[in-house]
Amino acid sequence: MLLEVKDLKTYFVTSKGEAKAVDGVSFELEQGECLGLVGESGCGKTTTALSICQMLPKEGRIAGGEILVDGVNYAEMTEKEINKHRWEDVSIIFQGAMNAFNPVKKVGWQIAEACMLHDDLSKEEAWKKAGELFELVGIPKERVTQYPHEFSGGMKQRAMIAMALACSPKLIIGDEPTTALDVMIQAQILELLEKLRRELNMGMILITHDLSILGETCDRIAVMYAGKIMEIGTVIDIFEHPMHPYTKKLISCFPDVRGKRVVPDGIPGYPPSLIDPPEGCRFCPRCDCATEACSASCPELVKVGEKHFVACHNMEV
Ligand SMILES: Nc1ncnc2c1ncn2[C@@H]1O[C@H](COP(=O)(O)OP(=O)(O)OP(=O)(O)O)[C@@H](O)[C@H]1O
Ligand SMILES: [Mg+2]
Repeated sequence: MLLEVKDLKTYFVTSKGEAKAVDGVSFELEQGECLGLVGESGCGKTTTALSICQMLPKEGRIAGGEILVDGVNYAEMTEKEINKHRWEDVSIIFQGAMNAFNPVKKVGWQIAEACMLHDDLSKEEAWKKAGELFELVGIPKERVTQYPHEFSGGMKQRAMIAMALACSPKLIIGDEPTTALDVMIQAQILELLEKLRRELNMGMILITHDLSILGETCDRIAVMYAGKIMEIGTVIDIFEHPMHPYTKKLISCFPDVRGKRVVPDGIPGYPPSLIDPPEGCRFCPRCDCATEACSASCPELVKVGEKHFVACHNMEV
């Protein structure tokens, strides 16, 4: 197994107390597989990604659980050990990554530097590698000597992907990698990621609000709500046989996930406080199917199909 996340708990110190942003998340990812991570804003998607890469801001900490990449526990590593693995094993394309390049350095050089740092290449070899990576992501290699301001948004995002691929990671995490781009470029970038994943046989975690993107790109989808996974399964499981009331609502916000988009209805109410979350199911206060059991205890993920797991006391309802 490429990645095993076991009972991950990531908490943030805030002025009002500790926010349990990720609270007992478990999932696995095989080599070459793509898992989509979806859920409302603030449910802990980015926090899960940053926990895996050990890139949490200083107020965040991993309070429990394991993150095994090829069997090695990242959660127990020191900063120095992690630095060796990050980018080489796991790399991340951030939300709004387009502005991550240093404006006064040539884009190609920034990629070459990353290659030199990790792969022990000479300056000449690193420039060559940067050119190859540019071609891989569909940018003419002559452009390696240009500066970020000479690139369009879509091209910067492609260059960011080249950077993420610089050390040939086994796992790549895309945290809303296309959110800031127009629909055409978005489709091109997603297609590119998909192609690279197949060619390089990388594992991929794709984070997005947009369910329609996941249907085309992912093998499996995990639905998160208030720091927990509510349902996880194949694209067919989630789109055609959703069992958790939250997944059902989320899907109904995209009436035809494979067709044209319409303005979603939304789900009334707000997610619960992560500082003092309810004892029972976190979706209970907004759930039409909730019963007494739902406010009394938090349901665990239960296997309902080969790859399909649901955390709900009233699945049949
Ligand atoms: N540095 C921080 N300090 C305190 N709380 C934080 C910090 N970063 C995130 N959080 C909290 O953790 C929770 C999860 O945030 P996260 O960014 O993981 O959500 P998300 O699912 O990625 O949302 P979005 O879809 O908006 O990107 C939120 O309640 C957020 O307020
Ligand atoms: Mg996020």
